[in-house]
Amino acid sequence: MKTDLTDKAVLVTGASRGIGRATALAYAAEGARVAITYHSDEAGAKETAEQVAATGGTALVVRYDLADPDSIHAAVTTVAEHWGGIDVLVACAMEWGDAIPRPGREMPAFEDVPPAQWRRVLTTSLDAVIHTVQAALSRMRDRDWSRIVLLGAGLADTGMVGAGAYGAAKSGLYGLVRSLAWELGPAGILVNLVVPGQTLTENVLAHASPRFLENKAKSLPSGRMNTPEDVARVIVFLGSAANGNVHGEALRITGGL
Ligand SMILES: NC(=O)c1ccc[n+]([C@@H]2O[C@H](COP(=O)([O-])OP(=O)(O)OC[C@H]3O[C@@H](n4cnc5c(N)ncnc54)[C@H](OP(=O)(O)O)[C@@H]3O)[C@@H](O)[C@H]2O)c1
Repeated sequence: MKTDLTDKAVLVTGASRGIGRATALAYAAEGARVAITYHSDEAGAKETAEQVAATGGTALVVRYDLADPDSIHAAVTTVAEHWGGIDVLVACAMEWGDAIPRPGREMPAFEDVPPAQWRRVLTTSLDAVIHTVQAALSRMRDRDWSRIVLLGAGLADTGMVGAGAYGAAKSGLYGLVRSLAWELGPAGILVNLVVPGQTLTENVLAHASPRFLENKAKSLPSGRMNTPEDVARVIVFLGSAANGNVHGEALRITGGL
């Protein structure tokens, strides 16, 4: 299978840890140059870059703030000017904040959620992705081929008490992908949504008990939860020349849930 990623410029937002880090490393393994964004954990982003460099790859570390459109446009411009354009955009960055309930912290009833709280979730999980795609597109249209991969969430299918705004944002990304597919297909830009179920990132491991994780794995048809690498491999396939015509899809990685 030919990914044709050698020396391609790949922007992975939110790659200081989690699925974004695994994705950056997987692209680097295919010979791509990877731009890694972070928000507060510069050390984590530098660690990802060091791991890329250790395998002979090239990485660029850039700060990026989901809540600030100017920061988004500045980050994308920095990457595009550094490498003369962007071939692949993968939007992994995620501010968990009030997106989902956390153990030990009560969420208010839906009617009592303050507008500023649900607005923040929509701003960081939906608006920010739209800003990022807009900023990147003007740097992607002149490439031999280009790809966009956005991150949805299995939770948008299953639902969860206290996660209404997050589910709405992730469902919104599916609507975005469906329309962009029509608009960008003629330009050779394939766009897809990867929809992971709960994944064993550092963040999930820090907040979930071993018992919860064991029960969760047992509840899945495959009998195990995703690793970040499981998700990264699918992202790299969709976001490479190996993907010839998968376009406008929501591809679920949920262990069969
Ligand atoms: N993990 C799961 O179980 C799961 C399940 C379904 C879907 N997903 C989706 O997969 C994607 C990646 O999730 P993940 O679990 O891998 O995330 P993660 O490990 O929590 O990493 C989040 C990344 O986003 C960055 N970030 C956080 N707040 C930010 C902000 N305000 N502005 C800019 N960047 C910010 C973080 O940077 P800093 O480290 O610098 O703060 C970090 O690089 C998300 O879209 C998520 O919705 C994840």
